[in-house]
Amino acid sequence: MINLIEKLERKHSLSLTEYQTLIENRTPQLAEILAKKAEAVRQRIYGKDVYIRGLIEVSNICKNNCLYCGIRSGNPGCSRYRLTPEEILSCCEEGYGLGFRTFVLQGGEDPHFTDELLASLLKEIKSRWPDCAVTLSLGERSRESYQLLFDAGADRYLLRHETADKAHYERLHPAEMSFENRMECLKALKEIGYQVGCGFMVGSPGQTAATLAKDLKFVETFQPAMCGIGPFIPHDATPFKEEPAGSFELTLYLLSILRLIKPDLLLPATTALGTIHPIGREKGILAGANVVMPNLSPVSVRKKYELYNNKICTGEESAQCRQCLNRRMESIGYRIVTARGDIKSEV
Ligand code: 5AD
Ligand code: FES
Repeated sequence: MINLIEKLERKHSLSLTEYQTLIENRTPQLAEILAKKAEAVRQRIYGKDVYIRGLIEVSNICKNNCLYCGIRSGNPGCSRYRLTPEEILSCCEEGYGLGFRTFVLQGGEDPHFTDELLASLLKEIKSRWPDCAVTLSLGERSRESYQLLFDAGADRYLLRHETADKAHYERLHPAEMSFENRMECLKALKEIGYQVGCGFMVGSPGQTAATLAKDLKFVETFQPAMCGIGPFIPHDATPFKEEPAGSFELTLYLLSILRLIKPDLLLPATTALGTIHPIGREKGILAGANVVMPNLSPVSVRKKYELYNNKICTGEESAQCRQCLNRRMESIGYRIVTARGDIKSEV
C-alpha cells in the first residue's frame, strides 16, 4: 500500500484497480500516512489559509425526486420556500460584512429561477460587490442557460456528479434522470469557462470500492476546480433509511487521496462532515481539505433546507457560524481568510 501511496504522490494518478485496492485496504495507519502527505501538499500551496464560501439556500422547491434527498419532490412533509431577489441580496450584504467574498446560490431545480431572473440578480450582485465571486449550484440546466448565466457574471458552478458509475447512478435516481445528461452538464460548464465543482456522497446505498475508484478516476481526468464530498446521512422521508458504517473515516481517507490526485484542488470540509462528527470539519481540514461553506441563509428557512437529518447550524445566525468557524479553525492552527479563494496554480 505504501508503494501505491508514493506512486500517487509522484504521479497524481493510479489505475482504477489501484484506486480500488487503496480503498479496500484502508487502515487507521494508512489513513494517517495519507493525511500527513495530504496536509503537506495543501500546506505547500495554500498554507494555513482556509477559504470560506457563504451558502445561500435560495429555494427548496425541486422538480427532481432523487432517492437520497430530503427535499425531493416526493416528500410531502417538506415545507417549501423560495427566497426573493431582495432577500438573497440582503444575505450577500450581511455576508460581505462578515468577510465573505464568495456567495454560493444553491437550490433545488426550481423552475421559478429563470435565466432572466438569475441574470438580473447576478448583475446586481456583481455590481454591488465587484470583488466577490458568485457560485451557482442550481442543478441541471441547458447549455444555453449555463452560457447566459456565465455571461451575466457567474464565476463558478457546483454540480456534484453523485457517482461516476452509471448503474450506481440509476440506483440513486428515478428513471427520469440520466447519468449521461449529468456528465454532459459538467462538460458544458467546463467548456463555457466556469470554475467547476463536482463531487459525491460517501456511503450512499450501493456504493462499493469499485464505484468509488471510478469517482477518483473521474476527478483525476475531469480536473475540476473543486470537489465536494461528504458522508451520506439518511433522511426520514426517503426510501434510504439505513445509516452506513464507517463513512466518516472513509470520507477523511478520500479527502486525503483527492488532495494527492490534484494538489491545488479546492476541497471543502462539508457541513455533512460536521453533522456526523462534532469536530468533523476540523478533521476534514487536517485530512487535506481547505474550504468551509457556512450557511448565510435567513434563519427562518434554514430548517427547511433539510437534505438529511440533524443538519447543523439551522438555528444559528450567520454571524454566529462565522465566529464559531473562526474558533474551530484557530483551534487546529488554521485561519479563515477574507478572499475570493480562487484555485491557485502551483508555483
Ligand atoms: N446525505 C448527504 N448528502 C446529501 N446530499 C443530498 N442528500 C444527501 C444526504 N441524504 C448531497 C448531494 C447533493 C448535495 C447538495 O447534497 O450530493 O448534490
Ligand atoms: Fe454554525 Fe458552528 S458553524 S454554529
